[in-house]
Amino acid sequence: MTTHPSHRPRRLRQSPAMRRLVTEHTLSASALVLPVFVTERDEPQPIATMPGVRQETLETLPQVVDAAADAGLGGIMLFGVPLARDAAGSGATDPDGILNRAIGVARTAAAGRLTVQADLCLDEFTDHGHCGVLDAQGGVDNDATLERYVAMALAQADAGAEILGLSGMMDGQVAAVREALDAAGRTDVVLLAYSAKYASAFYGPFRDAVESTLVGDRKTYQLDPANGREGLLEASRDIEEGADIVMVKPAGPYLDVLAAVAERSPIPVWAYQVSGEYAMVELAAAAGAIDRDRAIIESLIGIRRAGADAILTYWALEVGRSLRDGH
Ligand code: PBG
Repeated sequence: MTTHPSHRPRRLRQSPAMRRLVTEHTLSASALVLPVFVTERDEPQPIATMPGVRQETLETLPQVVDAAADAGLGGIMLFGVPLARDAAGSGATDPDGILNRAIGVARTAAAGRLTVQADLCLDEFTDHGHCGVLDAQGGVDNDATLERYVAMALAQADAGAEILGLSGMMDGQVAAVREALDAAGRTDVVLLAYSAKYASAFYGPFRDAVESTLVGDRKTYQLDPANGREGLLEASRDIEEGADIVMVKPAGPYLDVLAAVAERSPIPVWAYQVSGEYAMVELAAAAGAIDRDRAIIESLIGIRRAGADAILTYWALEVGRSLRDGH
């Protein structure tokens, strides 16, 4: 029996300073993006399943933008929560629609200190809650939806969005939007493709956050959680179509897909730590089951270790501030 091993990896773990010296991955505020919900109501609204997150109003949004800029965040991702919805999702392309107005307000408040990003998807604007428009049989009509996405992209670009988050999972959405923006002279607008977006139970609290009207599921357009290879295919197609950044979503349950995309992608790879990942930690911590702060950092560093260049997370502000303040 060998009681004196010659290899002793514990040597590098013996003190905080030694551990800090050999740490492989770090978080930085500039690589965190805060998702922000904006309601059309007069007052901010709490979100029952996401303790600590609320719907902002057009009046409170500038304060959030200021706080995010002060914390050094890379950007904010805006989601609109309209009061009225219809079959075509008209509010998405209306310059006075809540999301387009929020984009303008945020862009002015940001004044170049962080990037203003907008969710490009119809689900908050349709009365049926799907990410696209429906055909006669009630299925999601891919190509008719692309026409809506193109109009939405132009409206968001006009409103001042710098990065468009294409989260609808329609085939050909990146190429359609890129071509339309370029034709309109908006070659400057960055496209973030939610390439590997899975049909996930972890979006549960988000549906609350945007007051989703969806009945049923999104399995005809979002990916089957059992399929890894398909996530890689979606990412490579989006890169061919002209995406500037690709994303994997959710993050925690899909770290293998994230790592594989990160290994192959010639462009930046982001991850979205979604509402259910947030709620799990918050609710488990509130129940006394886990150490909240350590769990937050561990979940984020795991996403970085898997290969994410930047992360969308509801903890962006809190983590960004603590990185700034050095604790
Ligand atoms: C679609 C969209 C969703 C999320 C971001 N963009 C919802 C969905 O696909 O059902 C989920 C984000 C989260 O859960 O935090 N507009």
